Amino acid sequence: MEDPQEHEPSTAASVLGPGAVPIVLWVNGEAHPLLVEPRTTLAEALRGPLGLTGTKIACDQGACSACSVWLDGLVVASCSILAIEVGERRITTIEGLAAGGRLHPVQEAFIAHDAVQCGFCTPGMVMSCAALLAENPHPGEAEIRTAISGHLCRCGTYPHVIQAMLALADREEIEHG
Ligand code: FES
Ligand code: FES
Repeated sequence: MEDPQEHEPSTAASVLGPGAVPIVLWVNGEAHPLLVEPRTTLAEALRGPLGLTGTKIACDQGACSACSVWLDGLVVASCSILAIEVGERRITTIEGLAAGGRLHPVQEAFIAHDAVQCGFCTPGMVMSCAALLAENPHPGEAEIRTAISGHLCRCGTYPHVIQAMLALADREEIEHG
């Protein structure tokens, strides 16, 4: 006779929370063991227990890109992914862009072209621009506009961001990124 439980869904999936659970986040090349409640977003984990406040939280609902970081090199909104979902993926934040005591070329270009006002959107904007340069060292204006199209800058820095990126795109070499 057929077992009546044979076709029932498995109940073996583990349930996390509501209390804190141990995880390890790989951030800017280092492993960080943490205890976080399952509801904790990656942005909250970065800014809270890890103290990496360069990543900003503005809308907190995936609409403005202020919280952008890289996961395995891809730009993601860290307010819209839970810390427990990250797993082994490598996280890069704005604090991890400078190398060898030098700012990333995008950071230098933003300063040189005055692409910052209040600065709240800037870390996220820099992460997207640096990701674009890593993929395409000589982007055109249309590609730059597409790369920053998800970023809401209340101060209206877009023309200067585009100038900064076009200046980088015109250079012979991009030192790192
Ligand atoms: S704060 Fe994450 S998208 Fe706005
Ligand atoms: S510089 Fe103020 S929001 Fe962009």
